[in-house]
Amino acid sequence: MVDASRLPGATAAGLPAGVADLIGHTPLMRLSRYLGRDDIALYAKLEAFNPGGSAKDRPARHMVEQALVRGDITRDSTLVESSSGNMGIGLAQICRYHGIALICVVDVNAQAQNVAIMAALGARIHRVTEPLHGDFLAARMAAVEQIVAATPGAVWLNQYINRDNPGAHAIGAIAEIDAALDGALDTLFVATSSTGTAQGCRDYLAERGRSTRVIVVDAVGSTLFGGRAGKRFIPGMGAGREPGLARGQVFSRVVRVGDARCVAGCRRAAEREALLVGGSAGGVLEAVRGMANELAGQRVGVILHDSGTRYLDTIFDDGWVADTLGVSPEQIRAMIDDVHV
Ligand SMILES: Cc1ncc(COP(=O)(O)O)c(C=O)c1O
Repeated sequence: MVDASRLPGATAAGLPAGVADLIGHTPLMRLSRYLGRDDIALYAKLEAFNPGGSAKDRPARHMVEQALVRGDITRDSTLVESSSGNMGIGLAQICRYHGIALICVVDVNAQAQNVAIMAALGARIHRVTEPLHGDFLAARMAAVEQIVAATPGAVWLNQYINRDNPGAHAIGAIAEIDAALDGALDTLFVATSSTGTAQGCRDYLAERGRSTRVIVVDAVGSTLFGGRAGKRFIPGMGAGREPGLARGQVFSRVVRVGDARCVAGCRRAAEREALLVGGSAGGVLEAVRGMANELAGQRVGVILHDSGTRYLDTIFDDGWVADTLGVSPEQIRAMIDDVHV
């Protein structure tokens, strides 16, 4: 039998010992073409480089491992969570890594590819097919509560109220950005849904006495920060109902971006930077472009939560954009080229 520890490189210090060790340390890249002006130094944190493909790998790992450390869960627990997106994938990955069972509650609107990834990582999928009082979110919450009550050893970590969600981000991307730029960052733009990423970044910067402004980028139609509910189609940005975590949270500024503008941002990033980014990242980049005159002379950071590869059938599909958002390819073209955002 081969002694694995004697294989070349197997014991080299600093090598990742498993997929969990690949979470974090994502690239920070200068975007020199997106804005079309050179008086702003724009740096993008590419969170798609996490092994599960998004920034949510960080809170997924932290929530599970902190709960293990505290003894709130054991490896015999069953975690239950409502997520059909990046958090579901991040949890499926870290739960499989630690050998913990996971039931993901999704509804009929969930993107098939995301659900397939969660299932491939061993999550059990519970699909809600009927809304509750016309609301799928309410139906998913009711399903989570029902499953937790009926399953011995079941625990709902609940990213929308869990302080380990912002806690993960307070030691995450922002710490890496801060180290890479020697603390010299004027403004940071962060897309927001649970508000975990933005809170963690803001709290890290405040703790170190940085004067960096944190601007949250929310969706038009999101109820966060006193917004009025409306139709939204870009996953990961905004919230239909204010989560507990978001209550009373204050940031330097809130910028709202519409769905079509997010699409234009994704297309512009692909055209100008040869970079495929997800919808919330497109929105963040367009928020920067919209404030460019105010940002002249500054070092600006953006956290780009995920990759465009998960949105080929939506954001990058003209038919979907026309049918779902009611916006023609010509209108998107005009938005991409628009000099006044
Ligand atoms: C693609 C994407 N962007 C942005 C966010 C917002 O992050 P947070 O929930 O930390 O506010 C999420 C969260 O799910 C996301 O999936």
